[in-house]
Amino acid sequence: MSTRPTVLVGAGGMLGSAFRRNMLPDPVCLGRDQLDVSQPGVLVDRIASLGPSLVINCAADTDVERAESDPGPAYAANALLPELLAQACRKAGSRLVHFSSTGCYGDWKRTPYSDWDPLRPTTAHHASKAAGEAAVREAWPDSLILRLGWLYGGDPGHRKNFVWARMNEARSAPEMFSDPHQTGTPTWVGDIVAQTLRILDAGLSGTYNCVAGGAVTRFDYVQRILELAGHDTRLRPRRFERKAPVSPNEAAVNTKLGLLHLDIMPRWDEALARYVASLAAAA
Ligand SMILES: NC(=O)c1ccc[n+]([C@@H]2O[C@H](COP(=O)([O-])OP(=O)(O)OC[C@H]3O[C@@H](n4cnc5c(N)ncnc54)[C@H](OP(=O)(O)O)[C@@H]3O)[C@@H](O)[C@H]2O)c1
Repeated sequence: MSTRPTVLVGAGGMLGSAFRRNMLPDPVCLGRDQLDVSQPGVLVDRIASLGPSLVINCAADTDVERAESDPGPAYAANALLPELLAQACRKAGSRLVHFSSTGCYGDWKRTPYSDWDPLRPTTAHHASKAAGEAAVREAWPDSLILRLGWLYGGDPGHRKNFVWARMNEARSAPEMFSDPHQTGTPTWVGDIVAQTLRILDAGLSGTYNCVAGGAVTRFDYVQRILELAGHDTRLRPRRFERKAPVSPNEAAVNTKLGLLHLDIMPRWDEALARYVASLAAAA
């Protein structure tokens, strides 16, 4: 009996690598060279011809600073690619999972954003992510869109693994700096995989916040990493100057998942403690 495959897009990224490790049977992984948005017909037909039951899109252009001066690649990867993936899914009757960002809510609230809050992105990157969400909803309404924020995990040495990077930095730096003015919700990618599969199991489509519980400043987050890893490196507060006007509040709350009794995300500090302990055990 032939079974329809799962297609994983962006498998080399931080979140994509977590899906790749946790999916059975192995997904079909598509890389950049198979996802050329300047050949939309080829891209759509390639994916549709695989006849997948599910397409998981972890690909994104995540260079927030560069997008301010050169937004083209951000719109290609974050808006156009998801739209084409949604068209392919509509053609093949596949479910689509797409990831957005809690940074899309913007800077108009001091408390964590709820799923029903309007998106008012303050950066080109987040505008491109918001455009991607809208394009997916329009092209294939039977899609699942999860808004994420402040990810860590994947392969320990992954260039974007924030926790691993801070632990490494603490080994050699006499003192470290972090921003007390940024608030968010640190979230382990393994928890996102589990939450995504839970929502798929429930057969739901729609748009949801998907973050760990609670909120913390970047400074307190780094302080907690250092404490958990047993480093006594001095941490000092410093406001980070960025080209991109990223909102100081990227924290969110899983209001919809909570109301649906589907929220299985742990608190950020509990997940972080488990993750740091797992790195120590593996070392
Ligand atoms: N990281 C965070 O804190 C965060 C916060 C909010 C939302 N998110 C969202 O979560 C999702 C996963 O993010 P992540 O942190 O895992 O990203 P990541 O580590 O930067 O990985 C992105 C992946 O996308 C691929 N990619 C980039 N541009 C592409 C293009 N034009 N065509 C095809 N593939 C392309 C990359 O391929 P290469 O390996 O070839 O470069 C890489 O595999 C994204 O939707 C992101 O917007 C992340």
